[in-house]
Amino acid sequence: MPAVVFVGAQWGDEGKGKATDVLGSRVDYVVKFNGGNNAGHTVVIGDEKYALHLLPSGILTPGCTPIIGNGVVIDLGVLFGEIDGLESRGVDTSRLLVSSAAHVIAPYHRTIDNVSERFLGKRKIGTTGRGIGPAYADKISRVGVRVGDLFDEAILREKIEGALDQKNHLLVKVYNRRAIAIDEVIEELLTHAERLRPMVTDTVLVLNEALDRKQTVVLEGGQATMLDIDHGTYPFVTSSSATAGGACTGSGIGPTRIDRVVGVAKAYITRVGEGPMPTELVDGEGERLRTVGGEYGTTTGRPRRCGWYDAVVARYSSRVNGLTDIVLTKLDVLTGLKKIPVCVAYDVEGVRYQDLPVDQHAFGAAVPVYEEFDGWTDDITGAREFGDLPRAAQKYVLALEKASGCRISAIGVGPGREALIVRHDLLS
Ligand code: GDP
Ligand code: IMO
Ligand code: MG
Repeated sequence: MPAVVFVGAQWGDEGKGKATDVLGSRVDYVVKFNGGNNAGHTVVIGDEKYALHLLPSGILTPGCTPIIGNGVVIDLGVLFGEIDGLESRGVDTSRLLVSSAAHVIAPYHRTIDNVSERFLGKRKIGTTGRGIGPAYADKISRVGVRVGDLFDEAILREKIEGALDQKNHLLVKVYNRRAIAIDEVIEELLTHAERLRPMVTDTVLVLNEALDRKQTVVLEGGQATMLDIDHGTYPFVTSSSATAGGACTGSGIGPTRIDRVVGVAKAYITRVGEGPMPTELVDGEGERLRTVGGEYGTTTGRPRRCGWYDAVVARYSSRVNGLTDIVLTKLDVLTGLKKIPVCVAYDVEGVRYQDLPVDQHAFGAAVPVYEEFDGWTDDITGAREFGDLPRAAQKYVLALEKASGCRISAIGVGPGREALIVRHDLLS
């Protein structure tokens, strides 16, 4: 079972970091294939807590080679800050490989991200402000800077000059900001170039040769299905392909080589930033989920919007990604609730929807149709087998499985690596 994709099945922060890490030492390569340091993955190992943004979670597994794939946008300062932070805690980062085709986030991308959000006012997206959208916009407009460009100063200068010609017009004339000097940009990028050089390689070749040798490759998605540029709640999305298709384009591994696609979903749902979220709880129940689940952003610290599990979203995710398995996380957060509602359909202006409405207006107006399940009171954090769970918790999981249209292969019952119930081995 060599190539396994992990994607967020909701609006992000489902616990992907922990879910991918769970395969542990059986994995040879872990590839981040999309996004950048807008992601925030918390992985808890024993008493140690690691917050990863740009580095794939495989960096924490001895013997596993972490790869930043061509689909990623890299803020070099953040990358080396993260590497230094891990090294100072004794984590060996020396195996890290970086695609020469990955794009680089330049200082003007961060500036434009922030000023354009300010200009959007109440129509803002609520981005993480890390320059992600503008860096991908440049990639698509063919004025981006790639990692490989950092090693030829003449090419780099030419590319930045071209990009800045446009950006400075925008910054000065539209946003009323100061122009950015080319030397400032080049200096920031070149500061890191020599340190980066030994890590840069043809990651497409490395990965495909690894698969030829029958080694195991995990493709780790940032963000999530509902934030995907094509399949998410556009325009309230991120600027990359966070669904399973993005794993192929963002890594250079062809679809025929992918064996399994795992969706990571919380036992409830959260969202950060603006945009529709039908099951959002704006009352005390939402606050309870936020407090018990520790639902504050790993990257920006913003409180996450919380709501009940949305099986319509889960079915949509299952379809768009071709999910073979779901890893259900944070079941323990629901312990103590008397009743747990699950959204099974929507009502939109008098019409019942079993499937996600495609148009933005209808999704924005969707009213959840709930089915209620009994809660449980016993602490489940020590459960390691499905049978260890209280009957009501088992029934809840089986109901989610049925409503989501995909088998639930593992269940998270606490933040730690070991706090997991495996029902089906993800690698067999
Ligand atoms: P990611 O972006 O999908 O990797 O998720 P985040 O790391 O942003 O957010 C998930 C949070 O939930 C992290 O703080 C994890 O440590 C935590 N977590 C993951 N799985 C579980 C679980 O099963 N139970 C509990 N209580 N916490 C979990
Ligand atoms: P992980 O990988 C949750 C959201 C932002 C905003 C929108 C666009 O930890 O699940 P961007 O900065 O990407 O242009 O912001 O996407 N967003 C996330 N929400 N988890 C994430 O990553 C996110 N990455 C981006 O809040 O609404
Ligand atoms: Mg996160």
